Amino acid sequence: MKKFLIAGNWKMHKTPNESIIFVNELLRRIKDYKDRDILICPPFTSLYPISQILKDRPIKLGAQNVYFENEGPYTGEISPLMLKDIGVEYVICGHSERRNIFGETDEIINKKVKKTVEMGMKAILCVGEKLEEREKGKTFEIIENQIKKSLENFDNIENLVIAYEPVWAIGTGKTAQPSQAEEVHIFIRELISRIYNKEFAENLIILYGGSVKPENIDQLMKEKNIDGVLVGNACLKVDSFLRIIDYKIL
Ligand code: 13P
Repeated sequence: MKKFLIAGNWKMHKTPNESIIFVNELLRRIKDYKDRDILICPPFTSLYPISQILKDRPIKLGAQNVYFENEGPYTGEISPLMLKDIGVEYVICGHSERRNIFGETDEIINKKVKKTVEMGMKAILCVGEKLEEREKGKTFEIIENQIKKSLENFDNIENLVIAYEPVWAIGTGKTAQPSQAEEVHIFIRELISRIYNKEFAENLIILYGGSVKPENIDQLMKEKNIDGVLVGNACLKVDSFLRIIDYKIL
Protein backbone atom coordinates (compact mmCIF):
# COMPACT_ATOMS: atom_id res chain seq x y z
CA MET A 1 0.00 0.00 0.00
CA LYS A 2 1.29 3.47 -0.79
CA LYS A 3 2.29 5.61 2.15
CA PHE A 4 0.94 9.12 2.50
CA LEU A 5 3.43 11.96 2.77
CA ILE A 6 3.30 14.92 5.15
CA ALA A 7 5.96 17.41 4.12
CA GLY A 8 7.05 20.69 5.68
CA ASN A 9 8.59 23.36 3.45
CA TRP A 10 10.36 25.73 5.81
CA LYS A 11 11.08 28.25 3.03
CA MET A 12 13.55 30.92 4.25
CA HIS A 13 13.05 30.34 7.98
CA LYS A 14 15.23 29.19 10.89
CA THR A 15 18.97 29.53 11.45
CA PRO A 16 20.98 26.30 11.84
CA ASN A 17 20.77 26.58 15.66
CA GLU A 18 17.02 27.17 15.61
CA SER A 19 16.65 24.23 13.22
CA ILE A 20 18.50 21.87 15.55
CA ILE A 21 16.34 22.85 18.53
CA PHE A 22 13.17 22.44 16.45
CA VAL A 23 14.10 19.02 15.06
CA ASN A 24 15.14 17.67 18.44
CA GLU A 25 11.79 18.65 19.91
CA LEU A 26 9.93 17.19 16.94
CA LEU A 27 11.78 13.89 17.34
CA ARG A 28 11.06 13.80 21.07
CA ARG A 29 7.33 14.20 20.52
CA ILE A 30 6.55 12.50 17.20
CA LYS A 31 4.58 9.24 17.23
CA ASP A 32 5.48 6.16 15.26
CA TYR A 33 3.44 5.93 12.05
CA LYS A 34 3.23 3.00 9.66
CA ASP A 35 0.95 4.57 7.07
CA ARG A 36 2.64 7.92 6.49
CA ASP A 37 6.08 9.36 5.78
CA ILE A 38 7.17 12.63 7.39
CA LEU A 39 9.48 14.98 5.53
CA ILE A 40 11.07 18.31 6.41
CA CYS A 41 12.70 20.66 3.89
CA PRO A 42 14.86 23.20 5.75
CA PRO A 43 17.02 25.88 4.11
CA PHE A 44 20.39 24.78 2.68
CA THR A 45 22.40 26.07 5.67
CA SER A 46 20.49 23.77 8.04
CA LEU A 47 20.61 20.62 5.92
CA TYR A 48 23.96 19.25 7.07
CA PRO A 49 23.49 19.58 10.85
CA ILE A 50 19.96 18.21 10.56
CA SER A 51 21.10 15.31 8.39
CA GLN A 52 23.36 14.25 11.27
CA ILE A 53 20.46 14.30 13.73
CA LEU A 54 18.04 12.48 11.44
CA LYS A 55 20.24 9.45 10.71
CA ASP A 56 18.07 6.35 11.33
CA ARG A 57 15.26 8.50 12.69
CA PRO A 58 11.63 8.53 11.45
CA ILE A 59 11.77 11.87 9.62
CA LYS A 60 13.04 12.26 6.07
CA LEU A 61 15.12 15.14 4.78
CA GLY A 62 14.41 17.23 1.70
CA ALA A 63 15.85 20.31 -0.01
CA GLN A 64 13.84 23.22 -1.37
CA ASN A 65 15.76 23.62 -4.61
CA VAL A 66 18.74 22.29 -6.56
CA TYR A 67 20.80 23.07 -9.66
CA PHE A 68 20.90 20.58 -12.53
CA GLU A 69 24.67 20.03 -12.77
CA ASN A 70 26.83 18.14 -10.26
CA GLU A 71 29.64 20.70 -10.21
CA GLY A 72 31.05 23.63 -12.10
CA PRO A 73 31.20 27.41 -12.33
CA TYR A 74 27.68 28.11 -11.05
CA THR A 75 28.16 30.70 -8.32
CA GLY A 76 25.64 30.43 -5.54
CA GLU A 77 24.12 27.12 -6.64
CA ILE A 78 23.89 23.77 -4.83
CA SER A 79 24.24 20.50 -6.73
CA PRO A 80 22.30 17.23 -6.49
CA LEU A 81 25.56 15.45 -5.70
CA MET A 82 26.06 17.67 -2.64
CA LEU A 83 22.51 16.99 -1.46
CA LYS A 84 22.69 13.26 -2.06
CA ASP A 85 26.00 13.05 -0.19
CA ILE A 86 24.48 14.33 3.06
CA GLY A 87 21.43 12.07 2.94
CA VAL A 88 18.82 14.28 1.31
CA GLU A 89 16.03 12.08 -0.10
CA TYR A 90 13.63 14.58 -1.67
CA VAL A 91 14.01 17.82 -3.61
CA ILE A 92 11.21 20.33 -4.20
CA CYS A 93 11.37 21.37 -7.86
CA GLY A 94 9.53 24.31 -9.38
CA HIS A 95 7.85 25.74 -6.32
CA SER A 96 5.69 28.70 -7.38
CA GLU A 97 7.98 31.05 -5.44
CA ARG A 98 10.88 29.81 -7.57
CA ARG A 99 8.81 30.27 -10.71
CA ASN A 100 7.36 33.67 -9.86
CA ILE A 101 10.10 35.40 -7.86
CA PHE A 102 13.19 33.80 -9.41
CA GLY A 103 11.96 33.31 -12.94
CA GLU A 104 12.24 29.52 -13.19
CA THR A 105 10.69 28.17 -16.34
CA ASP A 106 9.20 24.75 -17.05
CA GLU A 107 12.35 23.98 -19.09
CA ILE A 108 14.63 24.64 -16.10
CA ILE A 109 12.30 22.70 -13.81
CA ASN A 110 12.35 19.78 -16.24
CA LYS A 111 16.16 19.65 -15.98
CA LYS A 112 16.00 19.82 -12.18
CA VAL A 113 13.45 17.00 -11.93
CA LYS A 114 15.49 14.77 -14.23
CA LYS A 115 18.80 15.42 -12.51
CA THR A 116 17.35 14.96 -9.02
CA VAL A 117 15.98 11.55 -9.93
CA GLU A 118 19.07 10.55 -11.90
CA MET A 119 21.07 11.17 -8.71
CA GLY A 120 18.84 8.79 -6.75
CA MET A 121 16.56 11.24 -4.97
CA LYS A 122 12.83 11.86 -5.33
CA ALA A 123 11.59 15.03 -6.99
CA ILE A 124 8.53 16.88 -5.70
CA LEU A 125 7.25 18.72 -8.75
CA CYS A 126 5.07 21.71 -7.81
CA VAL A 127 2.34 22.95 -10.10
CA GLY A 128 -0.50 25.40 -9.61
CA GLU A 129 -2.53 28.16 -11.20
CA LYS A 130 -2.68 31.85 -10.25
CA LEU A 131 -5.92 33.49 -9.16
CA GLU A 132 -6.54 35.24 -12.48
CA GLU A 133 -5.97 31.96 -14.34
CA ARG A 134 -8.52 30.20 -12.14
CA GLU A 135 -11.02 33.02 -12.62
CA LYS A 136 -10.62 32.74 -16.39
CA GLY A 137 -11.36 29.00 -16.19
CA LYS A 138 -7.81 28.08 -17.19
CA THR A 139 -6.84 25.94 -14.20
CA PHE A 140 -6.70 22.58 -15.98
CA GLU A 141 -4.95 24.03 -19.03
CA ILE A 142 -2.23 25.60 -16.85
CA ILE A 143 -1.71 22.43 -14.81
CA GLU A 144 -1.57 20.25 -17.93
CA ASN A 145 0.95 22.54 -19.56
CA GLN A 146 3.18 22.71 -16.48
CA ILE A 147 3.14 18.95 -16.02
CA LYS A 148 3.74 18.07 -19.67
CA LYS A 149 6.64 20.51 -20.02
CA SER A 150 8.22 19.72 -16.66
CA LEU A 151 8.10 15.99 -17.35
CA GLU A 152 9.27 16.05 -20.98
CA ASN A 153 11.45 13.00 -21.73
CA PHE A 154 11.20 11.87 -18.12
CA ASP A 155 10.27 8.26 -17.52
CA ASN A 156 11.34 7.54 -13.96
CA ILE A 157 7.92 8.30 -12.54
CA GLU A 158 8.33 5.98 -9.52
CA ASN A 159 10.59 8.65 -8.05
CA LEU A 160 8.24 11.53 -8.64
CA VAL A 161 5.78 13.22 -6.31
CA ILE A 162 3.48 15.95 -7.62
CA ALA A 163 2.35 18.81 -5.37
CA TYR A 164 -0.69 20.78 -6.42
CA GLU A 165 -0.26 24.23 -4.90
CA PRO A 166 -2.70 26.83 -6.19
CA VAL A 167 -0.75 30.10 -6.05
CA TRP A 168 -3.75 31.98 -4.64
CA ALA A 169 -3.80 29.68 -1.60
CA ILE A 170 -0.11 29.96 -0.70
CA GLY A 171 0.59 32.08 2.36
CA THR A 172 -2.79 33.76 2.07
CA GLY A 173 -4.73 31.81 4.65
CA LYS A 174 -7.17 30.98 1.84
CA THR A 175 -7.20 27.20 1.52
CA ALA A 176 -8.73 25.52 -1.49
CA GLN A 177 -11.92 23.74 -0.51
CA PRO A 178 -11.16 20.03 -0.20
CA SER A 179 -13.48 19.38 -3.16
CA GLN A 180 -11.69 22.02 -5.28
CA ALA A 181 -8.33 20.39 -4.52
CA GLU A 182 -9.76 16.91 -5.14
CA GLU A 183 -11.02 17.96 -8.57
CA VAL A 184 -7.52 19.04 -9.64
CA HIS A 185 -5.92 15.94 -8.09
CA ILE A 186 -8.24 13.73 -10.12
CA PHE A 187 -7.31 15.69 -13.24
CA ILE A 188 -3.58 15.24 -12.49
CA ARG A 189 -3.99 11.49 -11.93
CA GLU A 190 -5.85 11.10 -15.20
CA LEU A 191 -3.23 13.13 -17.02
CA ILE A 192 -0.42 10.96 -15.62
CA SER A 193 -2.39 7.90 -16.62
CA ARG A 194 -2.59 9.23 -20.19
CA ILE A 195 1.09 10.23 -20.38
CA TYR A 196 2.43 7.11 -18.62
CA ASN A 197 0.02 4.40 -17.56
CA LYS A 198 -2.76 3.62 -15.11
CA GLU A 199 -0.60 1.77 -12.62
CA PHE A 200 1.89 4.64 -12.32
CA ALA A 201 -0.98 7.07 -11.93
CA GLU A 202 -2.59 5.04 -9.16
CA ASN A 203 0.68 4.76 -7.24
CA LEU A 204 1.62 8.41 -7.69
CA ILE A 205 1.65 10.52 -4.51
CA ILE A 206 -0.17 13.79 -5.16
CA LEU A 207 0.18 16.39 -2.40
CA TYR A 208 -1.96 19.43 -1.77
CA GLY A 209 -0.27 22.68 -0.62
CA GLY A 210 -1.62 26.12 0.23
CA SER A 211 -2.58 27.30 3.74
CA VAL A 212 -2.75 23.79 5.18
CA LYS A 213 -3.21 24.06 8.94
CA PRO A 214 -4.37 22.03 11.94
CA GLU A 215 -7.94 23.30 11.35
CA ASN A 216 -8.27 21.93 7.81
CA ILE A 217 -5.93 18.94 7.59
CA ASP A 218 -8.50 16.27 8.53
CA GLN A 219 -10.97 17.50 5.90
CA LEU A 220 -8.30 17.62 3.19
CA MET A 221 -6.97 14.15 3.94
CA LYS A 222 -10.47 12.71 3.67
CA GLU A 223 -10.41 13.25 -0.09
CA LYS A 224 -9.62 10.11 -2.01
CA ASN A 225 -7.00 11.61 -4.31
CA ILE A 226 -5.13 13.70 -1.75
CA ASP A 227 -2.18 11.57 -0.66
CA GLY A 228 -0.58 14.09 1.64
CA VAL A 229 0.26 17.76 2.03
CA LEU A 230 3.08 20.24 1.52
CA VAL A 231 2.88 22.68 4.41
CA GLY A 232 4.48 26.13 4.62
CA ASN A 233 3.68 28.43 7.52
CA ALA A 234 2.02 25.84 9.77
CA CYS A 235 5.08 23.55 9.76
CA LEU A 236 7.26 26.13 11.51
CA LYS A 237 5.83 25.53 14.99
CA VAL A 238 6.24 22.09 16.55
CA ASP A 239 2.69 21.94 17.96
CA SER A 240 0.97 22.80 14.73
CA PHE A 241 3.18 20.58 12.55
CA LEU A 242 2.64 17.65 14.94
CA ARG A 243 -1.13 18.10 14.72
CA ILE A 244 -0.96 18.10 10.93
CA ILE A 245 1.24 15.00 10.94
CA ASP A 246 -1.27 13.36 13.27
CA TYR A 247 -4.21 13.92 10.88
CA LYS A 248 -7.20 11.68 11.35
CA ILE A 249 -9.50 10.48 8.62
CA LEU A 250 -12.78 10.51 10.44
P1 13P B 1 1.59 27.97 3.16
O1 13P B 1 1.23 26.69 3.86
O2 13P B 1 2.32 28.95 4.03
O3 13P B 1 0.42 28.55 2.44
O4 13P B 1 2.66 27.58 2.02
C1 13P B 1 2.39 26.51 1.18
C2 13P B 1 3.59 26.20 0.37
O5 13P B 1 4.01 26.99 -0.45
C3 13P B 1 4.26 24.92 0.63
O6 13P B 1 5.25 24.66 -0.32
